[in-house]
Order: sequence, then structure tokens, then C-alpha cells
Amino acid sequence: MTAYPFLFSPLQVGGHQMKNRLIALPVHTGFAYPDGTVSSWLIDFYTRLADSGVAMVVVANTAVSADGVVSKFNLRIDKDKFIPGLSKLAKAIQNKGAIACLQLNHAGRFAKTSRPLLPSAVTSENLSFNVESLKDFMEFFPFEKRFSLTRYLLGQFNKWRQAMTCDDRARVIEDFGLSAARACEAGFDMVELHGANGYLLCQYLSCFTNKIDSGFGGNFHERTTFPLAVIQSVKKNVPKNFPVGYRLIIREWVPQGIDLPEALAFAQVLEKNKIAYLSASAGTYNSIFSPAVLKNMAKTAYLKKDMAKLTAVVGIPTITSGRITTPLMADKLVKEGIADLIGLGRPLRVDPLWVAKAVDKNRKIIQCVNCNWCLKQVVLEQGFACSRWSEELRDRTRLEHQLMTRNYKPLWVICDIDDIYTFRKSLPLLIRAKKKNFFPTVLMLRQALQGRAVDQAQNKFIEWVKDVFDLNGYGDGTVNFVVKEHKGNLEKLVYDEICMGDYGQVFISSNSKEDWRDRLLYKQQGKVLARLCANIRQHKVIVPVDLSPATLLVMIFLRKTLIREKNFNISFVNVLTGKSSPVERQWEKMKKITKLKKNIPLEFIRPANNMGNNMTTNVISALVETIITRKYGTVIMGKRGLSGIKRWLLGSVSSGVLHRLTDQTLFLID
Ligand SMILES: Cc1cc2nc3c(=O)[nH]c(=O)nc-3n(C[C@H](O)[C@H](O)[C@H](O)COP(=O)(O)O)c2cc1C
Ligand code: SF4
Repeated sequence: MTAYPFLFSPLQVGGHQMKNRLIALPVHTGFAYPDGTVSSWLIDFYTRLADSGVAMVVVANTAVSADGVVSKFNLRIDKDKFIPGLSKLAKAIQNKGAIACLQLNHAGRFAKTSRPLLPSAVTSENLSFNVESLKDFMEFFPFEKRFSLTRYLLGQFNKWRQAMTCDDRARVIEDFGLSAARACEAGFDMVELHGANGYLLCQYLSCFTNKIDSGFGGNFHERTTFPLAVIQSVKKNVPKNFPVGYRLIIREWVPQGIDLPEALAFAQVLEKNKIAYLSASAGTYNSIFSPAVLKNMAKTAYLKKDMAKLTAVVGIPTITSGRITTPLMADKLVKEGIADLIGLGRPLRVDPLWVAKAVDKNRKIIQCVNCNWCLKQVVLEQGFACSRWSEELRDRTRLEHQLMTRNYKPLWVICDIDDIYTFRKSLPLLIRAKKKNFFPTVLMLRQALQGRAVDQAQNKFIEWVKDVFDLNGYGDGTVNFVVKEHKGNLEKLVYDEICMGDYGQVFISSNSKEDWRDRLLYKQQGKVLARLCANIRQHKVIVPVDLSPATLLVMIFLRKTLIREKNFNISFVNVLTGKSSPVERQWEKMKKITKLKKNIPLEFIRPANNMGNNMTTNVISALVETIITRKYGTVIMGKRGLSGIKRWLLGSVSSGVLHRLTDQTLFLID
């Protein structure tokens, strides 16, 4: 017998049986790839939520149009190409026994796009309110982030001077319909229309943002026209009984904004339009950072009173939200008829064992402390993470998020005959048995009027590379050869090529007479960079690690490349500048995060204690000496051990190593 009989009783919603009254509310993750497709980390995240024991998981904020995304890492459903990934996501949720619901959204004026869509152009009164609320918003962020955020937002406000056109409106209405059809095809059990948080549907309903005189704006009835047209479009595109829920804003907390009476009236309209359930929410970006609203939202079950009224006026299931922190509180809300279902947003993210612990009363739930650190993470486009998670989970999340912006598209740069020789010698490092998605581009630079011997050498090299790829099981067309003539300034030419081709790996051979090569490599950010050197010890690899987040990227790179190769002998070393035990612990943690084998050892080397030098110089000297005396042929290291000001003051280890080594192949992972 459960201690919470109301919470753990089933309920029919939209023709689906909810096994209990607990719903994982939509909370934007920012874990989609930059092109809007589902990432494996996003699937892992939602799988954990589904596995928590809730009855339904609502996947947050999926954009129905390309111009409706809130962030760079927004999940999208505006094209058929998104269906396969979403299908995997729906299955992952259902396999854990939860109903899978997809929230559909268009962010309207809050969209990250060059032409945000607004029901009506912003008025001067509205604009000054926005600028005013920006101050509260900024208070929320660390000082160093405020400048860039303010600049971005003021830039966005500037784009709010034009209303969306009739064509825009018709297109977005259709986008919602087509997206719902895709959600259905992907296997989701339901969709939820995002009518809250100040996004487009909410913008049409609100007098604060909708200043249209008639038609799609004006009186209450007219302001419901757009959301209702969206609902009709969705209904038209999905099977007859496919449930469509609605995220309803019940208080906007801005002047002339949506208030409870209007929200209740709209709820009844939604019920008449066959909406399957109402999930209540309150506040928008314009209000939730104001001190008064923050104070209100800090209370537990802060929507309780309003929810009682909402549940009383409709006959469809309602979901409450807003700091429902304990199972006892949740059970009571259901028992008293305040809401039919309990939405858990942040509380479930802090502790995915929330539901299990409600069953087993001896285990203590980790509480959400309402610090809103997660919201900052999401706004700063760093992906959802919680301040109360273990450091390991936060590091893992940061790493996974960094990996989302990476591509490993390789560019090999060949400028002269010496480079051809180096690349020939280095090929075992660069290509191994057939790998998926490995399509290098070889950029061959020819000087205008160069001799025939060079032409011949280049042509022979092209043939040879093709043969090697062939022998290693790659098909025709794997390597793309780009031949360009130049008249000097190679640095600029190669730099432009890297930018235009959006390469994620850049390999160039070393040449001590041409310092532009090192300069070019060191300028690149967020890439794998290699300066190749034709030495016979390339298979003897040293990986200096400082156990900073950059080390995680190095470990991931190795996991994807050399770590499983028998012909390579890889040693991880750390220049120990303090006690060994914390470093050892961190090493074990990092292996776990990056899924490297547990038995990979870390060797310590001591820095020379040269009092005249700073620590960075001593670390560089110790590394360089080890590399040379032990005859390592390849060095693989992170480029960004230190960040910002520290790097500027102390110099960077990777830059020091780059400049002091001449005979080794050096990989820098940024
Ligand atoms: C970081 C963050 C992201 C959110 N993203 C969404 C979203 O994408 N869609 C939505 O309907 N609500 C979103 N919300 C609102 C939550 O669903 C929820 O209503 C709110 O956090 C209050 O409930 P809670 O106290 O259970 O978290 C978000 C809230 C937070 C903190
Ligand atoms: S970061 Fe803070 S507000 Fe967000 S879920 Fe964690 S404890 Fe709650």
C-alpha cells in the first residue's frame, strides 16, 4: 500500500492511461545538435527522465519553423529529415514505460533569428518595459556575461519594429500542422502546443504583445484567433483521436498581460476545441526576473490557488507546476482536486529518483533549491545542468555539450614537395582501417609557374593517396582533392579555406622556415590541429594531461582514434605541481566520464624546480625534456589548459611546447 494513494492512482488522458499522476514537465535542454537534430546526449537525458517512473515525459520546446528556435541548440521538427532522430527519442521514452509527448513551439519575438516574428510591431511603451526588465534579467547573470548578452538583446529589440505579415502567419499556422503530423509519424503519443513563456501563441493572446486592432487581435475573442487557427491546423494533420495538449499561461505578470480571468476563459475555449489536457505555467522572460515575481515563485506550489480555479472551470485534466517539492504536497494537491496531474520540472531534474523515493519513504529526495542556475545555463546556451548534480555529471554534461558543436571534417594542407614527403610518412597516423564518415579534403597548393617536377610529384601523390585509401577499404571519392594556385600569402589562403570549408581538423606539416604554419594552427579554435613531422617514432605517443576540461576533449579524441590501435604505444603523463592523490582521483573520474578503459595508467613527472621561472615555464621544460629524452615521436595535448586572463599572464603550456619541439608530430586539441 502506497503512502500516496492519490499520486499513484491511474488516469485517462486523451485516450492514454497514465500509470500515475506524475508528469515530467517540458524544460528546455539545449541538447540538440546545432542543425536541430536529436543528439545521443538528448536521448540519454530523456531516457533517464522516462526511467524515473513518471507517467508521461513532455519533450521540451521543439521548433515548428526554422525561425522559431530559441537557441542554437534547439530541437527542430520543421522538416521530414528530423523524423528519424525524433523517432528514436520517442521510442527511448516509451521503452521505459512512459507516454511520450512532444511540445511544439514557435518562439516568435524571442526567437534567435534575423527576422523574429511578432503579432504587431513593438510599441515605444512596450519597448521601454522590455529595456526596463532587461536590467532585472542582467542582474541574474555573472558580470562578465552581461555585456555580450545586453548587446545581443538590444540588437534583437531593434528587430521588433516590424509585425509579421499575413503570409508569415499562414505559413506558421501550416508549420504547426505539418510538425504535428511529423511528431505523429515519429511515434509520439501526443503533442503539446506551447502557449506559455511569452512565445508566439502566448504573444497573440496577450494585450501586452498583440496590438492588432481587429482580426487576429483586438478583443479577447479576436486574440484567440491565432492559437485556435494553430489548433485547427494541428487537428487537420493528425489522426482524429490523436491527443493535443496545451501549455497554458495563467498569469503573465506584465502590464496588460494575461491574467487569471482571461486564462480561465481561454481554458474553456480550449476545452471546446477538444484539447486533451491543460498544463499550467506562469511568467515570461519579461517578468520572471523581477524581484517581486522571483519572491512569489520561490514559494512551494506557487500556482496552487490559481490551479484550483482552473481545475474547477474545465472538465479536462489539468497539470499543475511550480515547485511541487515533496510527494506529500503532490498527493495532497491531487486529493484536494487542485489539479489532476502533478508536473515536475526542476525537481525531477535535480533528483531523477524523486518518484522512486516517493515509493520508498526511507530515501531522502534531493531538493531543488530554486537557484535557477539551470536557467542561466540554458540562456547562455551551455545546455541544461543543475547546480546540485555531482561534479562528475556536470563535467560530463559540459563535455557532451562541447562535442555537439564539433565536427571532425579533416583538411590536409600540402604546400610543397617536402610536405608531400611528410604526409606520406604520416599517413599511418592519419588513416586507419575503414571508418564511418571519414572524408578528408587534401588542399594542394601550387605556385603559379612552378616546375614540372613539382606537378609530377603532386600528381603522383594524389594517385598514391587514392591507392592507400583503396587498400584500406575506402570507396572511390572518399578523398576530395582541391588544387589551388597561389602567388604568395599562403597563410591567408589556407585560413580562408579552413573558414569556408568549416573544417574540424586541420593538418599541416612542420617547416621551421615558415613560421606562419604554427601561427595559423594556433589561431584556430574548437578544432583538432596537427603539425606533422616525418619521424620514424610517430607510433610512440605521449599525451600530457593537466586534468582540466581540455583534457576531456583530448581523451575523447583518443577514444575515437588511436586508443584502440595496436601499433601505437600511448603514455599519459601529468607534470605534478602539487599532491598526487587529488590528481589521481580526477584521472579516474575523467576516464569514467570519457568511457576510457579503467586500467589506463597516468604517469607523473616532476617539474624542474627552477626558481627563476614561473610554474608554466617549468612545466613546459619538464615536458619537453621528457619528450626528447624518451624519444617520443608524437605529442597529443589540449590547447586550452588555462583560460582567458590566466593564459595571457602565464603563457600557455601547449604554445610553449609547440615552439620548443621541432622533430615531433604535435596534435593540439582545442
Ligand atoms: C531552464 C528552464 C527551461 C524551461 N523550459 C521550458 C520549456 O521549454 N517549455 C515549457 O513549457 N516550460 C519550460 N520551463 C518551465 C517549466 O516547465 C516549469 O513550468 C517551471 O520550471 C516551474 O516548474 P518547476 O518548479 O517544477 O520547475 C522551463 C523552466 C526552466 C527552469
Ligand atoms: S539548478 Fe537550481 S533551480 Fe535548477 S534544478 Fe538545480 S537546484 Fe533547481
